[in-house]
Amino acid sequence: MKILVTGGTGYIGSHTCVELINSKHEVVIVDNLYNSSESVLDSIETITNVRPKFYKIDILDYEELEKVFKDNKFDAVIHFAGLKAVGESVEKPIEYYENNISGSLNIYKLMKKYNVNNLVFSSSATVYGDDFEVPFKEEYGFGTTTNPYGTTKKMNEMIISDICVSNKDLSAVLLRYFNPIGAHESGLIGEIPNGIPNNLLPYIMQVESGIRDHLNVFGDDYDTVDGTGVRDYIHVVDLARAHVKAIEYACSHKGCEVINIGTGKGYSVFELLHAYEKASGHKIPYEVVDRRKGDIATCFADTRKAKELLDFEAEYDIDRMCIDAYRFMSKLNKKI
Ligand code: NAD
Ligand code: UFG
Repeated sequence: MKILVTGGTGYIGSHTCVELINSKHEVVIVDNLYNSSESVLDSIETITNVRPKFYKIDILDYEELEKVFKDNKFDAVIHFAGLKAVGESVEKPIEYYENNISGSLNIYKLMKKYNVNNLVFSSSATVYGDDFEVPFKEEYGFGTTTNPYGTTKKMNEMIISDICVSNKDLSAVLLRYFNPIGAHESGLIGEIPNGIPNNLLPYIMQVESGIRDHLNVFGDDYDTVDGTGVRDYIHVVDLARAHVKAIEYACSHKGCEVINIGTGKGYSVFELLHAYEKASGHKIPYEVVDRRKGDIATCFADTRKAKELLDFEAEYDIDRMCIDAYRFMSKLNKKI
C-alpha cells in the first residue's frame, strides 16, 4: 500500500516508517521539521535500504498539502503530525488548537476530496484523564482532560468519529498510546527532546549522560508499589508494529475503532530508573520532590482489544526498552 505518514520524521513516525517499509509498504512523509530533522531520512534509508519520498510541508498549509495528494494516489494515511508538550500547551493553547485541530482538519478534508478512506490517528491515554480505574478500557470513553494538548486528542477522536458517521467508506483506527520509550535497535533513530525533557526516561537519559545533574522524582507518597507514579511503558518499536497492524486492519474494515496500545503492565519511576541504571552500568542521582500537578498515581492499559482486533501484543520488556534507549543515547553523545 502507498501510505502518507504525517510527522514521519518524528520519534514515533520514524520508527513506524521503518516497520512499514519492512512490511513492504510504500511510505511518503510530510513533516515541517519543527521537532525533527531531515537526517532522520538518512537513518531510515540506512536501516531499510529505502529512502521514503519526503515533503517538507506544514500541514496548516492547505495548498501545499493538496499538491501532495494530487501527486500521489494514497491508500491510507497515518497521522502523527502535531505538537505534544503538555506543559507548553497550557502556555500556548492557540498554537496547540491551531496545529492539532486545524492542521488535522486539512488532512481529513483532503482525504475526503481525494477519496483516501483509511486512517490511523495518534491519540493518547491522556484522554482517560483521572476519572477511571485501571486498567483503562476503551469502552470508558473520555475522562476530563486537564490541558489543551489532551483536549486536542479528545477533539480529534470526536471529529474523526463524526466523519465516519457521515462517510460510510471511511475506516479509522484511533490508537491511544500509553508511554512510548526506547529506540530502534540500530541506535540510529530515537527520541531527541527539545530543551528540558518533560518525560521521565528522556530526563533519566540526560542525567546519566551528564547533561543534567539529577532526576527530580515527582512524589513518593502515591498508593503504588514504592510510592512513585506507575506507567505503562511500551517500546517504540512495538508501538510502530502496532501501526502496521492498525493500518492493515483499517484497510480491510469499515467504521471507527478506538484501541489502546500499551503492554498492560505498569512500572514505577524507581523501577524504570533502576532498569536504566542496569542498562547503562551507572548510578543515577535523584531527589524526591513534590508531586507534579495533574499527575495521576497509576496508568496502564487494558490490552485485550488490541489483541482481539489487531492480533497485537507488545514483545519487549522494560530492560530491552532501556538497553535500546541507552544505545541510542550513547551514539548520540558521540555525534555531539
Ligand atoms: P514528535 O514531535 O517526535 O513527532 C511529531 C512530528 O510532527 C515532528 O517531526 C514534527 O516536526 C511534526 N509536526 C508538528 N507539527 C507539524 C505541522 N504543523 N506540519 C507538519 N509536521 C508537523 O512526536 P512523537 O512523540 O513522535 O508523537 C507523534 C504523535 O503521537 C503526536 O501526535 C503525539 O501527540 C502523539 N503521542 C505521543 C506520545 C508520546 O509520549 N511520544 C504519547 C501519546 C501520543
Ligand atoms: N516523572 C518524574 N520526574 C520527571 C518526569 C516524570 O518523577 O522528571 C514521573 C511522573 O510524575 C510520572 C512518571 O514519571 O509518574 C511518568 O511521567 P511522564 O511525564 O514520562 O509521562 P506521563 O504519563 O505523565 O505523560 C505521558 C505523555 C503525555 C501522555 C501520557 C499518556 O507525556 O503526553 O503519557 O499517554 F498524554
